[in-house]
Amino acid sequence: MSETVELTVQKPVGLTVTPHDNGFGAEIGGIDLTKSIRDADFAWVHKAFLDYKVLVFRAQKLDDEAHHRLARYFGELEGHINKSTRHQALPKIQIFSNVKEDGSTTGEHPEKGTLVWHTDKSYVATPSLTTILRSPAIASVGGDTLFADMTRAYYNLSTETRARIDGMAAVHDWKRSREKSKERPATAEEIAAAPPVVHPMVRTHPETGLKAIYLGNHASHIVDMAIDEGEALISELEAHATQSEYIYRHKWQVDDVLMWDNRCTMHCVEPYDATKERRIVHRVVVKGDKPL
Ligand code: SIN
Repeated sequence: MSETVELTVQKPVGLTVTPHDNGFGAEIGGIDLTKSIRDADFAWVHKAFLDYKVLVFRAQKLDDEAHHRLARYFGELEGHINKSTRHQALPKIQIFSNVKEDGSTTGEHPEKGTLVWHTDKSYVATPSLTTILRSPAIASVGGDTLFADMTRAYYNLSTETRARIDGMAAVHDWKRSREKSKERPATAEEIAAAPPVVHPMVRTHPETGLKAIYLGNHASHIVDMAIDEGEALISELEAHATQSEYIYRHKWQVDDVLMWDNRCTMHCVEPYDATKERRIVHRVVVKGDKPL
């Protein structure tokens, strides 16, 4: 497996790319995301995105407009099926917040499905390319976001397991996913908008050509396999992929911008005390391709 993509443009002066110790995820410095991004800077940010899969930008005082603008460099924005978390004025932005207007907490994490391993919007035919979060308020204990590197996890499977799962497909289903994460049931409108879809269990990244395990909580069962057998195989592969060697744990700071490649990662939020801690993230999602 080739680890990095080639880039002929020289790295712009001032821009820094600092990979995390295990080579999964990187922190980008020397860039101000409140302003337009120069082409050469974007080329390097994009290269880092493909090489490291999760990017962290610290101390970025973005507003929602700048957040939108940043996402548009990566592609077309898409709204979320769950209308209850949409920003009132800017519906392509979702707000996950446990803070009421009077500043008190709701006592609940806003979207329980984010507490379990998943890859964004795998329950639609063309799931998300990237998700970009910013963090106006963070929990002081817990509330980290964890990522699993599904490419490394795939290439570290045995040759036999890779050969076994390479041609398999899984059904991804918003309705079932909500049942599993004990969220409010999907509405009839949501079920009509997101009927079950089938995706390969191993997808090939359209830009790097590398393969990755493609599962997560939205995956309900495996095509042409008994339900319980398929659930067991999904659990086994997810247990493999979420071993510590494949994980990056993001410890939030206020005004972080965090983005990830949904085509080759899974993520989840670590639980926190939602009665005491105030946690707010604003979230923008960029549309991706059909997994192949
Ligand atoms: C998400 O799963 O998209 C949200 C992650 C987070 O709240 O940190």
